[in-house]
Amino acid sequence: MSRGELVPRLRWLPAIFLGLSLVGLAAPPKVALTPPMGWNSWNHFACHVTEAIVRAQAHAMTTNGMKAAGYRYVNIDDCWQGQRDAKGFIHPNAKFPNMKGLADYIHSLGLKFGIYSSPGPKTCGGYTGSYQHEKQDASTYASWGVDYLKYDWCSASRVYRPDQMQAAYRKMHNALESTGRPIVFSLCQYGLEQVWRWGASVGGNLWRTTGDVQPNYDRISVIGFDQNGLQRFAGPGHWNDPDMLEIGNGHMTLEEERTQMSLWCILAAPLLAGNDLTHMSPQTLEILTNPDVIAVDQDPKGIEGHRVTQEGPLDVWMKPLAHGSVAVGLFNRSEGVAKMEVRFAEIGIHGKADVRDLWARKDLGAFNDRYSAEVPRHGVVMVKVKPE
Ligand code: GLA
Repeated sequence: MSRGELVPRLRWLPAIFLGLSLVGLAAPPKVALTPPMGWNSWNHFACHVTEAIVRAQAHAMTTNGMKAAGYRYVNIDDCWQGQRDAKGFIHPNAKFPNMKGLADYIHSLGLKFGIYSSPGPKTCGGYTGSYQHEKQDASTYASWGVDYLKYDWCSASRVYRPDQMQAAYRKMHNALESTGRPIVFSLCQYGLEQVWRWGASVGGNLWRTTGDVQPNYDRISVIGFDQNGLQRFAGPGHWNDPDMLEIGNGHMTLEEERTQMSLWCILAAPLLAGNDLTHMSPQTLEILTNPDVIAVDQDPKGIEGHRVTQEGPLDVWMKPLAHGSVAVGLFNRSEGVAKMEVRFAEIGIHGKADVRDLWARKDLGAFNDRYSAEVPRHGVVMVKVKPE
């Protein structure tokens, strides 16, 4: 193409960029290109979290194999906030004497630092929120070295109408953006107002699609298996968030914990461990760090999975992966063992395919047309199917 032909074409570029920005696709997202991985204080420590606890979790993450497996963010949830000073700047409470020092320590380990606030005057725990201090708080976070903000609706319902929710989130997004620091923006409003339809357009990198998780199989099933249909709203830089992991909390069986990990990875969900990383069983660590299973979550294509078939309590899910492979979860939600199968035609594969068991981390060989397995009660068999 000659220069003469090129110049008129280039003239359209600004218009194209303007058009893209109007539909909310302006700059490609710089953060959360795959679902964020890390740890969050809430599920285990709730309001008992302290700086010492957070330092110990960050240190554990670097020595126990979690960092090597891809976990990066160390996130303080609610209850770190103190008072605002006369100029309106937020200060941490006595449990967090040196936020910048904590952030520096986390960064020195090659990890990233996350924090929590609310668009309302108070957080869910009754601590100071960011209402009417959004810009100031964003610049304080940036000065500490914050890399991730979870922004939890809580008391915002007292000061905003539901139709003002998007603007309230966009306001903090703009404040974060104006700091110039890349900060992952995590929307937490429990799936209200079909957030998946607008979360990305207000600058969200992830948005909770449900109420709070709890460390038991019933709650994890209700949340996880209810996500079907949301997959078209997720992709690199903007993810559905069915809440954090409860692996290592409560009294779930091995099979139940594998169910949460498998399902969350098929859903391309953020993987935020919620247990005490300084005291966990080898089983919990193995589930949290299985590289084959994590690779499903972190697949570069960033396609969220969906349900293939449901036969009563027998649930088959798939997630398309890069290079034509498909991850499949055979989930048995019944109270006894069950034989389950996936027919390859149902997942878009015809003929022979190689199957790898992702929990056993074992190639099972080539199969014709279908793969079947015995699945334990409340358990899962998760495989990767690769067309030959
Ligand atoms: C809400 C959120 C939780 C947690 C608590 C903290 O319930 O959904 O994830 O952040 O608030 O108070």
